[in-house]
Amino acid sequence: MPGQVVKNPAQQNIAALVQEIGAQNPLQQQFVRNSAAGLDGEERDWFGAYLDYCLATGQSLASLAACYNLLVKDTMREQMYFQRHGRYRCSTYSEVSDAVYQNPEYMEQYMAGLALTAFLWPNHRKMRKSFLRKLPRERGGHYLEVGPGHGFHMMSAMRLSAYETFTGVDISPKSVEMTRSIIESGFFGRWENYELVCQDFLECEAPPGKYGALVAGEVLEHVEQPLAFLRKLHELAAPDAFIYVTTAINAPEIDHIYLFDSVEPVRRMTEEAGLRIEDEEVFPYTGLSLEECEERRLPVNLALVLGT
Ligand SMILES: C[S@@+](CC[C@H](N)C(=O)[O-])C[C@H]1O[C@@H](n2cnc3c(N)ncnc32)[C@H](O)[C@@H]1O
Repeated sequence: MPGQVVKNPAQQNIAALVQEIGAQNPLQQQFVRNSAAGLDGEERDWFGAYLDYCLATGQSLASLAACYNLLVKDTMREQMYFQRHGRYRCSTYSEVSDAVYQNPEYMEQYMAGLALTAFLWPNHRKMRKSFLRKLPRERGGHYLEVGPGHGFHMMSAMRLSAYETFTGVDISPKSVEMTRSIIESGFFGRWENYELVCQDFLECEAPPGKYGALVAGEVLEHVEQPLAFLRKLHELAAPDAFIYVTTAINAPEIDHIYLFDSVEPVRRMTEEAGLRIEDEEVFPYTGLSLEECEERRLPVNLALVLGT
């Protein structure tokens, strides 16, 4: 019909997911519509491929929308707690372990919802783009990812980079299972040069200087001892390793237990861990400056490339 835009199946899935999210949660309707309208071609391709993978592995657009809306609801509840008390609800691993990391039903929904935010939340979109821009394409050596969660970013690194081996370490059995599923699905490539380990990164044993790439996206605020975590990254890094760390500031979530209240403490901590900031990207809450976010204690994301 004249004037009618014909959508390919991937675009149709994106549009149908957006509609389903809005139908389940009208308060999200306009927000996700705007997000989807702003996706560029690269994002549409990957988002569409990811939805194809989800549908082929037995999920439905309705269940994915429910996962996304659960994450939104839980985030808002934690934001209200944070505004009222000025701190995150929990501050120790033991407080969140049973409810989140060791709870397969919750973790599956949480990680499925989180994967969608890489395309639907402005800051997560920016961080995904930042990672893809910075990930070295030609370097060899061993790649380590801590906390791959849903596995989407680790799978992307396996597809796009030339590292010889890939290791994922995650404390949650469900995260390990989800990462294995996306890598082994055959949807994005076929690999044998990887291993996945279910362990606390701080307890993981590997020779010092082993890894040429160390990636920890949105994990630092999940640990009781982020300084020890950064020191461990340093210890395991080969000279000239690509070290990529993102974290969240004033960003309450059910399992965020270490509160960074501004960018400066993160900078100081990386320095204390013996790491040098080679590149820093700050992503304040949409429409606000970093100063406004820090003053009003609103979420900021931070992506760092570190050197030893
Ligand atoms: C918020 S998710 C991040 C997922 C993904 N990296 C991303 O950027 O979207 C955090 C992940 O880190 C894992 N995690 C938390 N503490 C950890 C630890 N001490 N060692 C290893 N993994 C950990 C969690 O189980 C979860 O899978």
